[in-house]
This record gives sequence, C-alpha cells and structure tokens, in this order.
Amino acid sequence: MRRAFLGAVIFAVVLVLVFVWIGEVITRVSGEAGRGAPAVIAPGDITPEAGETVFWGKGKCYTCHAVGSRGNSIRGPNQGETGPLAMAIGARASERARERAQATGKPFTATDYLVESLLDPGAYVVEGYKNEMPNPLRPPISLKPEEVTAAVAYLQSLGGTVDVAAIKLPPGVEAAARAGVGGDEWRPYLSGDPKKGEDLFFDPESNAACAKCHRVKDKGGDVGPELTGVAGVRDLKFIVESILEPSKVIASGFEPILIITKADQYITGVVKGEDGSTIVVGDSQGRVLTVPKDQIKQRAPQATSVMPENFGEILTVEEFHDLLAFLQTLK
Ligand code: HEC
Ligand code: HEC
Repeated sequence: MRRAFLGAVIFAVVLVLVFVWIGEVITRVSGEAGRGAPAVIAPGDITPEAGETVFWGKGKCYTCHAVGSRGNSIRGPNQGETGPLAMAIGARASERARERAQATGKPFTATDYLVESLLDPGAYVVEGYKNEMPNPLRPPISLKPEEVTAAVAYLQSLGGTVDVAAIKLPPGVEAAARAGVGGDEWRPYLSGDPKKGEDLFFDPESNAACAKCHRVKDKGGDVGPELTGVAGVRDLKFIVESILEPSKVIASGFEPILIITKADQYITGVVKGEDGSTIVVGDSQGRVLTVPKDQIKQRAPQATSVMPENFGEILTVEEFHDLLAFLQTLK
C-alpha cells in the first residue's frame, strides 16, 4: 500500500517536471523568452549588458540598426565602426555632441546626445537618413525608462566610456511613459479577420498581393522592407499611412530611382545593390533586375514610392481591415 502511494507521488513529481521542461523548451523554441516583456531592470542593475539585451530584444533596435555585421543596416546607421564617421556610436556621440552644442547654444555631452537620439529622434537626423526612428518609450515598443537608460549604457560601451550615473532622462518623460501616451488610442473601425488578411497578403492574384514586394518570415519578395516585425515597432497609424500614402514618407534604403537604358528602356525601382559594373534594381512588379552600368543612359531619383499608390481604391473596406488585422499579428 505504502509502496503504491510512494509510486504515485514519484509519478506525479516526474510528470510535473516533464511539463515544466516542455514549457521551457517551447518558450525557448518560440523565442518568447527573448521577445516577451523581460523583467523590469532594477535601478542598481543598469549595465551595458542589460542594455545589450534591450537592444537585441524588447527594444527591437536590431530591426533597423546593426552593430558591425550583426543586425539590419538598411534602415538606420550602423552602431559599430562601419557606421557614419567610421566610428562606433559611443565615440561618434562625442562628435555629434559638439554639433548639437553649436546648433542649440547649450552644453551637450556625448551622453546627452545618446539620450536625445532615443527620446527625441527627430531633433537631429543623421545625414543620409530620414526622421523615421520611433520613440522607444511609446507603443508598440513601450520600453520602461530604466530600459532606455540601460540601452544608452550599451551604446556608451560601443567605443565610448560607460558612465551610467551621467544618463539623465529629461524630467516628465518617465511620467509620460508610465501613463502610456501615444499610438494605442488609434483603432480601426472594423475588426478584420487576420486569416483572410494573410491570404490577401500572400495571394499574388489578390488585390493586395503585398508579398510580391514584402517578406514576412521566410516568404515574400525583397523590393520593399521586410514586414516580419512591423507591428512590433510601428503603431497602427504609421501602418495605415504607409499603405494609403506610400510616398509621404519613403523608407530609407528604399528610395525609388528611374533608369533609362541606351536602348530606351525605362526601369523604375529600388536600388538593391550596386558595384562597379552593375546595378541591381527591384521593380514595381516585384522583379529583381541586374542592369549593366555601361547600358545606362540616365539615372534619376524619383519622388513617388515603388509601392503602388492605389490600395485605397482597389481594396474593399473589408479587405483593408483584414489586412490590418493580419499586419497587427506581426510583432
Ligand atoms: C524603425 C527603425 C528604427 C528603430 C526600431 C530604431 N531606430 Fe535608431 N535610428 C533609425 C534611423 C532611421 C536613424 C537615423 C535618423 C535619425 O537620426 O533620427 C536612427 C538613429 C539612431 C541613433 C543616432 C545614430 C547616430 O549616428 O548619431 C541612435 C543612437 C539610435 N538610432 C539608437 C536606437 C536604439 C537604441 C533603438 C532601440 C531602442 C533604435 N535606435 C531603434 C531607425 C530606427
Ligand atoms: C511593388 C512593390 C510593393 C507592393 C506590391 C507593396 N509594397 Fe509596401 N512598400 C514597398 C516599398 C518599396 C516600400 C518602401 C518605400 C516606402 O516607404 O514607400 C514599402 C513600404 C511599406 C510599409 C512601410 C514599412 C516601413 O517599415 O516603413 C508598409 C507597412 C507596407 N509597405 C505595407 C504594404 C502592404 C500591406 C502591401 C499590400 C497591400 C504592400 N505594402 C504592397 C513596395 C511594395
């Protein structure tokens, strides 16, 4: 009798352990451990290492920034030595601070510049880029102030001097962030069906056919920016405007050009790559063409995005909301 009881207890314990283990494996496999909201960083734990976790995780910084060869450097400047001024961001910030001091007539330290570039990204726009960095305190990124401070410490550590005590977020910013201002009050007026939206996105025969140009995970084209995590960094308003008015803000790295060949062929598209002898262009049909440079007669930048301007007309209201519902799942 006792043996049977003991057996049952051991069986139950083993069962619980197996479930805990399966839970852990699933969390690890699905990447939730890195992507979900991490534990709040205690003030004493603000270190470059904690900031590194924010940069490559919850902060989504890596979707627009690389450090050296890791991350994505199409949208924003590389934060390593291959970035602007051939300096890593920790060192580059001192140069920028000098410029900011001159422009504002106020003293500016490298750390002040780093804080400003996160919390007021439009105040100084790096040459060759556009004012399209989201404020990471606001939804959907929604970093906590201490996570922003840690991210700044990480940037300091890339070629600069780490000084956590010098990182001061402007007064009021914390209160505003805690009150959760921004983005979220903007809601579509129909709740769409994300499954139908997904079909529209990927079906090349549908009115949307977004995947001709956009990749989501391992499917789709490369003419436009990858949208795998778009709802994780952009609020709904931005997404709606990108679809209805694509030329209003053209994503950096996806600027349209017109090429006229010596055979009088007109090619409009996005430059995907270029070397001494050829230029690779993604066109409005989602095709990627390699054009030899010696066949080019003329080449000119364009003001209209390669993304079609007429989705507002060709999509039905339901289709538009189904698409939005699908895009909202891409976090
Ligand atoms: C959606 C794209 C995007 C995301 C996400 C993003 N950035 Fe940026 N970032 C940019 C762009 C574009 C610029 C250049 C334009 C400008 O100066 O505002 C920039 C500029 C910067 C600069 C100034 C670089 C320099 O050379 O002076 C810093 C620092 C920076 N980002 C840090 C971050 C950090 C940290 C995160 C994550 C919390 C982040 N960014 C998330 C797009 C992004
Ligand atoms: C012919 C190619 C093409 C098609 C088709 C297309 N796009 Fe785009 N899209 C682009 C290009 C190029 C950009 C970047 C230039 C710009 O900002 O306009 C872009 C930008 C975007 C952006 C902004 C992304 C960012 O991070 O800034 C969103 C969102 C987007 N497209 C959604 C869609 C959706 C949804 C569809 C389908 C209804 C679609 N696109 C169809 C080419 C295309």
